[in-house]
Amino acid sequence: MSQAVIRSHNQPYEHHWMPFTANRAFRDDPRVLVRAEGIHYWNDRGEKLLDGIAGLFSTPAGHARPEIAAAVARQLSQLDFAPPFQFGTPGAFQLATELAKLTPAGLDRIFFVGSGSESVETAIKIAIQYHRRRGEGQRLRVVGREKAYHGVNFAGWSVGGMVRNRDQFGLGMPGALHMRHTHLPDNHNVMGQGEHGADLADDLQRFVDLHGADTIAACIVEPVAGSVGVLVPPKGYLDRLRKICTDHGILLIFDEVITGFGRMGANFGSQAFGVTPDIMTMAKAITNGAIPMAGVAVSRAVHETIVEQAPMGGIEFFHGYTWSAHPAACAAALASLAIYREEALFERARALSPYFLEAVASLNDLPVVTETRGFGLMAAVDLAPGTSPGARGFEVLNKLFQAGVVVRVTMDTIILAPPFTYTCENVDELVGLIRKTVGKL
Ligand SMILES: Cc1ncc(COP(=O)(O)O)c(C=O)c1O
Repeated sequence: MSQAVIRSHNQPYEHHWMPFTANRAFRDDPRVLVRAEGIHYWNDRGEKLLDGIAGLFSTPAGHARPEIAAAVARQLSQLDFAPPFQFGTPGAFQLATELAKLTPAGLDRIFFVGSGSESVETAIKIAIQYHRRRGEGQRLRVVGREKAYHGVNFAGWSVGGMVRNRDQFGLGMPGALHMRHTHLPDNHNVMGQGEHGADLADDLQRFVDLHGADTIAACIVEPVAGSVGVLVPPKGYLDRLRKICTDHGILLIFDEVITGFGRMGANFGSQAFGVTPDIMTMAKAITNGAIPMAGVAVSRAVHETIVEQAPMGGIEFFHGYTWSAHPAACAAALASLAIYREEALFERARALSPYFLEAVASLNDLPVVTETRGFGLMAAVDLAPGTSPGARGFEVLNKLFQAGVVVRVTMDTIILAPPFTYTCENVDELVGLIRKTVGKL
């Protein structure tokens, strides 16, 4: 991009240290978005771009929904903030009640936090405290999985399995164990769930046999591993994890930060795959991207143990954030849930899924594409690596931006997660732009 371009914001780039970004490369060739509406962005040159990743899995109803803006504005002028510790606000109770209608049966006690990473830390602390309250305080190990992403905070990256997110930060949380990932050559190029690999869940059983079930607090998995490149669980895998957890008193945590709110063609991944965890995180789409917010849904049994059985009058769970259940976030979430319901957006996502997955799979004929995978309205396109791991992905991110589309790239994999308001024509446009760009590599 030429330096002669006059950017609308006209700000220097060096003060903002950008997250998960090649900061120096960005300064040389910035990708600045200044406006969004519906399924489009506009960059600082006034060019329109198609949103292929729904914000960051966060904006299924499309950008800049006036209903959400109005709800937030109303809330801010009535009650902008109140301390969330020892005080409540109506929106928080209303939102928890609405969410309880969407979560799997029995998983209806909701703790609010500010981000997906915080939801993971919270879920793990709840699991550890649950066992402690039951007199099993020695249950401290938490089992995660290779290639998993559970955010960037300490417990989350410790149980996560993305190497670059781990290898610079020391030893992490003690007691983190990792099952093998489920990305198997036997399921190569399968859209949906592969036939092979349910037995990989037995890695959890091996940890039970090796370390003793009475040392394991929880097992955490994403129903579909999203950020690492859409790894769909093989048929029977999640059921098997559920059984092993139940047999050994281990709490099963589903990290549904990405898979919640319709992305899998059901309210949550839990319902899409027919497996109910004990604890479930949620984030991304909860406010349609408008205000940071996340949550943890907890089973009645877990909640009962920690909250209802604690001595009256004392704080039952020494945990929470200044931004837990922020009134503006609750207002944004309530307005978002109303849109999802009134426009039947989860049903729309489910209906569009076969067309979308087939369109993405059609990219397999390009020589540079090595695999496509997907489930619901989320898919991945693996590219043959370039000069170094991640180089091709970065090249494609830039080229797609120039071609007028915003996607997420992880190493050499393109991740697509369109807004639920896409039509089949929008899918064709998205996949067509990728074909045109990637086909030239
Ligand atoms: C499964 C999962 N867990 C946790 C996180 C972290 O969420 P956040 O970036 O809001 O902290 C993410 C983010 O993509 C995620 O996909």
